[in-house]
Amino acid sequence: MPAHRPVPTRIRPALLACALLVQAPLARADEAEKIVAALGLGPGMSAADVGAGDGRFTSALARQVGAGGRVYATEVEADKLEEIQKRAKDDGLENVRTVLGDQNRTGLPDGCCDAILLRMVYHHFTEPQAMRRSLWSALKPGGRVLVVEVPPHSSWRKLEGVPERGGHGIPARELIADMRSAGFTVLAQHEEWPGEDDSYCVVFQRPALTRAVPASRAPTASSAGTGESSASPARTSSAR
Ligand SMILES: C[S@@+](CC[C@H](N)C(=O)[O-])C[C@H]1O[C@@H](n2cnc3c(N)ncnc32)[C@H](O)[C@@H]1O
Repeated sequence: MPAHRPVPTRIRPALLACALLVQAPLARADEAEKIVAALGLGPGMSAADVGAGDGRFTSALARQVGAGGRVYATEVEADKLEEIQKRAKDDGLENVRTVLGDQNRTGLPDGCCDAILLRMVYHHFTEPQAMRRSLWSALKPGGRVLVVEVPPHSSWRKLEGVPERGGHGIPARELIADMRSAGFTVLAQHEEWPGEDDSYCVVFQRPALTRAVPASRAPTASSAGTGESSASPARTSSAR
């Protein structure tokens, strides 16, 4: 059996770089799998990746909904839309539509989507209230919004024009309060999520339409809820 020889110091950085190059796509694939599962995406559905960046998660959504489905990828930076289109073409995906949005609207058609992904985007919104309204309009009743975020990082790049939150990011409690104020309910909260060490994920739902209840059978004030979903949000890990 050959003797185990230590790796020469001079090639250790190169080996580490190779390991990171292999690991990053694997971590992204793992996260993409978690995203499509949490969004409940399947063939024929339609979804949006709002603030899609270079479109690396758009392609994962598009593969999941298949040729009979559709994925909208929105951005406020037009050159990123070109990058997304190129990536979709290289990936052989014909079900991706790019959309130019702005800080007040997603640019998505009303009621277009069963699910919306907001990955590391919410804390970039300079007009979060307007964006929440626009997200609501774009979702079908019962549709889901999955938000991946980090708590504020004071050492990260400062974002111009966003609400002051003590750094780049947003606390989970503030995100949840914001989304509830717009009518969304919390379906699930994941306190550990791939990405940064402190990434978290919250899945929201635009409540499904319920049939009108005759006045004689409507709940009384004492039996009525608070307007929140009666089920407690699922938590997938202990609080940190
Ligand atoms: C940190 S990047 C995240 C990109 C991508 N979602 C990802 O996870 O790789 C944030 C992106 O949000 C975009 N963005 C910021 N505000 C936006 C808005 N109101 N509507 C759409 N995109 C927006 C930015 O241009 C940027 O590409």
